[in-house]
Amino acid sequence: MPRVFSGIKPTGDMHLGNYIGAVSRWVEDQDRHDALFCVVDLHALTVPWNPAELTARTREVATLLMAAGLDPDRCTLFVQSHVPEHSILTWLLNNLATYGELHRMTQFKDKSKGQESVSVGLFDYPVLMASDILLYDTDEVPVGDDQRQHVELTRDIAQRFNHRFGDTFVVPKATFPPAGARIMDLQNPTAKMSKSDVSPEGTVLVLDDPKVVAKKIKRAVTDSGSEARYDPETKPGVSNLLELHAALTGGTIAASEREFAGLQYGALKTAVAEVTVEALRPVRERYAELAADPAELDRLLAIGAEKARSMAAPVLERAYRHAGLLMPGGASATT
Ligand code: TYM
Repeated sequence: MPRVFSGIKPTGDMHLGNYIGAVSRWVEDQDRHDALFCVVDLHALTVPWNPAELTARTREVATLLMAAGLDPDRCTLFVQSHVPEHSILTWLLNNLATYGELHRMTQFKDKSKGQESVSVGLFDYPVLMASDILLYDTDEVPVGDDQRQHVELTRDIAQRFNHRFGDTFVVPKATFPPAGARIMDLQNPTAKMSKSDVSPEGTVLVLDDPKVVAKKIKRAVTDSGSEARYDPETKPGVSNLLELHAALTGGTIAASEREFAGLQYGALKTAVAEVTVEALRPVRERYAELAADPAELDRLLAIGAEKARSMAAPVLERAYRHAGLLMPGGASATT
């Protein structure tokens, strides 16, 4: 079975973009693949954080992933900082990634823009992400469109390492959903839906009350026309609604376009609100049950970390050996 790895940061609230672009597909992947999913708490340290909030958010996101359908018996679910190999491999790979490459990352440019002080961690973020992926001999990385460039860089680093030191890492590929790889903000449909608090009305949270979900979608910005046509350039708001509809009904954008052809935008909004509320309802309900037992969560995460470590340790050792680091006891790549 192909190996799948993906991750989510425990910063801000999980939103509909995370759910459609990534999490809902992870739930499907766990039966077709040998799958690992990770709450990437070390990545959360790349912007200023509050310690108590980080702890709470880490549990919250892990609980939400299980509420969405990830089953620790069918996949490996763990917290990044519980597996020290992620940080260790990052140091090795830091010496293969270049300043120029990291400087070109659009997420780095966006997040550092206008900041008085930018941490080295934020700059190095993609190398930690490459380590996450490469440590598990990953074949596929299911992500939203905003992670495309980071997975490309991961491939480049893996190929460079293999070229220099011999076959070491599996070169992974990113996978994207057929619809919903880039869900846009409902109030500002030329910007992607995101965890930053800039647009509470334009961001549907997975744990929002169903009435709030419906209200946010019904107030979504569209345009002055009346034709429900998919054209992200000239009709970003309507196109986003069609994309949401297609993603949540498991259909194609063309089928959604046909369904709403000749109808008012109101009909499209009502339908999108309904499918969204129905998709999120079971997640919200299950979350309430699971959140009542944090000790059980901690127990499951400890088991996940053990499983992940047993897979990561031999890959790290392989990379160390191939790079010529002297192994304890004297073994090296050439012995
Ligand atoms: P994060 O936490 O920002 O987002 C988690 C996942 O949600 C996707 N996503 C979206 N998809 C569609 N529309 C949107 N508006 C939207 N917003 C977010 C993201 O693409 C992502 O798949 N760097 C990663 C976390 C990470 C990771 C990894 C992912 C760390 N290590 C290794 C894969 C493999 C991130 O910040 O995701």
